Parts: sequence; C-alpha cells; structure tokens
Amino acid sequence: MAEFGSAWQTVTVTLPALFLFWFFLFYLSPLNQTSITNIIFSYPTPISHIKTIHDTPPPISSSSPPPPSPSPSPSPTLLSPSYSLTENDTSSLIEGEEKPKKKMSNLERIEADLARARDAIRKAVQAKNHSKGNDDEGFIPTGSIYRNAHSFHQSHVEMEKRLKVWIYREGEPPLVHDGPLNNIYGIEGQFIDEMESGKSRFMARHPDEANLFLIPISVVNIVNTLYKPLVTYSRDQLQRVVLDYIGIISERYPYWNRSQGADHFLVSCHDWAPDISEANPKLYDKFIRVLCNANTSEGFKPQRDVSIPEINIPYGKLGPTPQRASPDKRSILAFFAGGAHGNIRHILLEHWKDKDNEVQVHEYLDKKKNYFKLMGKSKFCLCPSGYEVASPRVVTAISVGCVPVLISDYYALPFSDVLDWTKFSVYIPSEKIPEIKTILKGISPKRYLKLQKRVTEVHRHFMIHRPAQPYDMIHMLLHSVWLRRLDVLLPS
Ligand SMILES: *[C@@H]1O[C@H](CO)[C@@H](O)[C@H](O)[C@H]1NC(C)=O
Ligand SMILES: *[C@@H]1O[C@H](CO)[C@@H](O)[C@H](O)[C@H]1NC(C)=O
Ligand SMILES: *[C@@H]1O[C@H](CO)[C@@H](O)[C@H](O)[C@H]1NC(C)=O
Ligand SMILES: *[C@@H]1O[C@H](CO)[C@@H](O)[C@H](O)[C@H]1NC(C)=O
Repeated sequence: MAEFGSAWQTVTVTLPALFLFWFFLFYLSPLNQTSITNIIFSYPTPISHIKTIHDTPPPISSSSPPPPSPSPSPSPTLLSPSYSLTENDTSSLIEGEEKPKKKMSNLERIEADLARARDAIRKAVQAKNHSKGNDDEGFIPTGSIYRNAHSFHQSHVEMEKRLKVWIYREGEPPLVHDGPLNNIYGIEGQFIDEMESGKSRFMARHPDEANLFLIPISVVNIVNTLYKPLVTYSRDQLQRVVLDYIGIISERYPYWNRSQGADHFLVSCHDWAPDISEANPKLYDKFIRVLCNANTSEGFKPQRDVSIPEINIPYGKLGPTPQRASPDKRSILAFFAGGAHGNIRHILLEHWKDKDNEVQVHEYLDKKKNYFKLMGKSKFCLCPSGYEVASPRVVTAISVGCVPVLISDYYALPFSDVLDWTKFSVYIPSEKIPEIKTILKGISPKRYLKLQKRVTEVHRHFMIHRPAQPYDMIHMLLHSVWLRRLDVLLPS
C-alpha cells in the first residue's frame, strides 16, 4: 500500500479513482477480507443457507458516492491470526472417515475430500509455507501480483489433486459439446474442447465422483446457429435451450437437485451469456456462471460468478504473439486503436482521438501500421470497455508487456480472487478520461518499471495451452470455479 500511495500521492486528482479501484478490488472481489473467509477458510456455507451469506454487494455508481468500504484496512491480511475453526470443524468429517462406522455415501466422500482441501489451504496460509506441493508443476507463485501467494499455491495444488468435473453427455453439436476456437470468444470453445478432449486430468469418469458439473453449452454457437439470419435480439431462444438442457439433466440425474445447481457451471464469453439467467432467476440463483461479460451492474455476482478474460485467438494460434520489448524501448506513452463501440470509447475518442503524440488514440488504425507492434512499443495500453465491459486488449497488452490501463465502470476483473490487479495495471474510471495523460505521467519511472515487470510475471496466467498446463488460463478458470465449490457444503 505504501508503494502504491507514494507513487500516486502527487496526483491528487486521482484519489477518487484510487478509492474506487480499491473499492472494486476489495469489495467486489470474492476474496476480499470479509468473504475470503467464506470462500476458503471458514466453515463452508451449507447449501440451504447460501443466500444469507452471499448477499449481493450494491453496485458501484460513478455518480453517487460508493457505500463505505467494508475493508477499511487496505492490507489484505487474508487470514487473521485469531481465526480458528469452530467446534463443528470440517475435520470431524475426516475423522469420521478414518474410523468408518458406516459406509460413506458418494457425496459424503466428496465433501470429506473438499474438507481436506480447505484444511490444507488454511494450514498453508497459517504456516506461510509452500507445503505439500508434489511440485512436478515446476512453478510456485510468489510475489505481489498475488493477493495471497500461499493460499493460491496450495489451493491450486489441491485442485490438481482433487478436482473432478463431470461433463454431461446430453445434447449434440453445434449447440452443445462444441464452441468457437478462435477470435474474441475463442476461450469458450477452447475450454469446452479441452474438457471434452479426453486428455484433461480433471475429467470425472463417473458423475458420482465429480465435485463439479459442466453444462457444455456454447452460447456463441447457439447465437451463430439459431440467430442466423439475425431477425431478433430477443433472448428467448437462447434462454429456452439452456432451460431445456437443465430440465433434462435435472430430471435424469440427482446432481442438479441435490445442490440446486451450486456445483454446476457454464462457460461463455458471449455478450449475451449473462442474459440466460433472466428467464428464471430463481433456478440460476446458485449456478456458477463463468463469463467474460462481467458487469456488476448487470447482475454479475463476483462471489458466485467467475470473471474470465476475453482473448483474441487468431487461426492456428492460441493467443496473441508475445513480445518482449524492454521498458526503455517503449517510445509511446499510451496507445489505443479501435472502434467507437459504446459510451466509454465515445468519450475516449472525443477527448483524445489523433490529438496527442504521447497519448495515441486512433479510431481504427491505418492499414499500413501494425497494431501489435505499436502496442509492444507502448508503455501503457488503454483498454476501455466497448459494447461490454471486457476487452481482448487486456490480454493483448499483457502478452506484449504493455501495462494495461483499465478504463471501465462496473467491471469485475478476471481472476481477481487470486490476482491483485493494482500491482500490474492502472485503473481509470470513465469520468477521469480527460485526465489520462496527467494520471499516467504522474506514475514515477520506478513505479512504472515495477508495474511492467509484474505484467511479464502475470503473463503465464493469461496464456492458453492445449492440453492445458498448471497455472495457465484454463487452469485459472477451473481454479476460480474450484474456489467457489470450496465455498459450498452440500448436505447429504
Ligand atoms: C455443532 O453441531 C451440533 C450437532 O449438529 C449442534 O448441536 C451444535 O449447536 C453445533 N455447534 C455449533 C457451534 O455450530
Ligand atoms: C514447510 O513445509 C515443509 C514440507 O511440509 C517442511 O518440511 C518445513 O519444515 C516447513 N517449513 C516451515 C517454516 O514451516
Ligand atoms: C428434480 O426436481 C424437479 C423439480 O422439482 C423434478 O421435476 C425432478 O424430477 C427432480 N429430479 C430428480 C432426479 O428427482
Ligand atoms: C454495465 O451495466 C450498466 C448497467 O446496465 C450499463 O449502464 C453499462 O453500460 C454497462 N457497461 C458496459 C461497458 O456495457
């Protein structure tokens, strides 16, 4: 915090921005001080009581002052030393298993296993020790880009050991079991394809051993199939396909009903995906929605839903081509090129389009110029929201070593359970767009070098590998869902 403060204190105009940013990270993120105890470290929430704990935080409004932050102390001490498990400790489940009096049900076995995972994470945090890793993974998260590197590491280790995802077999491609592998929604198809490839270590062989259930529907494919030609924007058809699917699997199997959907998830990068739940909010109340379009003002709930990055995947590749220009070779202060999509971009273009040599903002780019090269030559890359909050520019910026400048309102940042975005990005709320240059010039060279170095560190979490690898984007996605599963206790 001290470092963050000293770098910014000269720019007093940015204080509200700073406040909003902290507010964003510590209030809306599932691993803020209050809720980290919900997610991993406390006695988990019995499913019937989940509602009372997971109250929706009020939306942030840029016009009215935000409600008082629940985390007045900025240092995210993730586990207070006075914390201890209550008498109805989950470990009793484990002991129960060790002296088997009666045969455990499948669900009891799963819950006992999850209790062990919670316990191991809690111990790793307390010991501040990277303990029980069977680290053939070769990577151990450390450093300030993580909100708590110890808990993340242990939680990832536990996931590798225990996560079992059942993929429902019902349905036919292209609406189900398929998805786009390329372009800005490509993560949707890459994820489904990875899970269905038969190569994923997380694939459950039988639903009885699964601790999570994937609804393998592709919203992009539904839109591309059922909405061609596009004569209506009504979400009815989309909503009906998903409702029907859940109807079928909850009729055929006991799993949806026993958890009310709390251990079920769907992954979609499409802008329309959040609208699925509007058809029947009650049905989707506990369902985990993994979305690119993570707008907290449109019903995205950071404690239950998962925000994933949008990534532009060119044909024949798995993401933007990395570049490694050193910080002193970056001659452009800030760069943006793109369409005037949405309100925030309008404001950005109005203030900055082709007006400044240092803050280079273009509405689209001259064909002769290379977009990626220019981003790679920039210190900061402006990543404004477009029609929706997420933008593939964030991952592109990270891939080319350019510090992302997030210009958005209501955006729940990807993987912010684990990642501390203040350490490798700059946040500018939309009303500060006129002050972009002042804000960025107010960042000292020393602080810039730190930010830039951390961008290169965090890159591994924004890369796609096939098959997926520990700590890559697909594992980060799964880990986010895994954390939410750890937050839930299913009664047997
Ligand atoms: C622990 O569980 C027992 C039996 O279910 C219950 O009577 C008791 O009130 C619980 N204690 C706490 C602190 O929740
Ligand atoms: C950390 O964990 C390792 C392996 O479990 C153990 O050998 C070591 O003593 C621990 N170190 C500390 C400081 O607790
Ligand atoms: C799950 O609940 C629904 C609605 O109450 C019911 O129609 C369905 O038969 C149940 N499924 C199973 C497998 O019992
Ligand atoms: C986020 O949601 C709010 C409320 O619906 C909306 O005003 C805003 O435009 C959305 N943001 C983006 C970038 O779409």
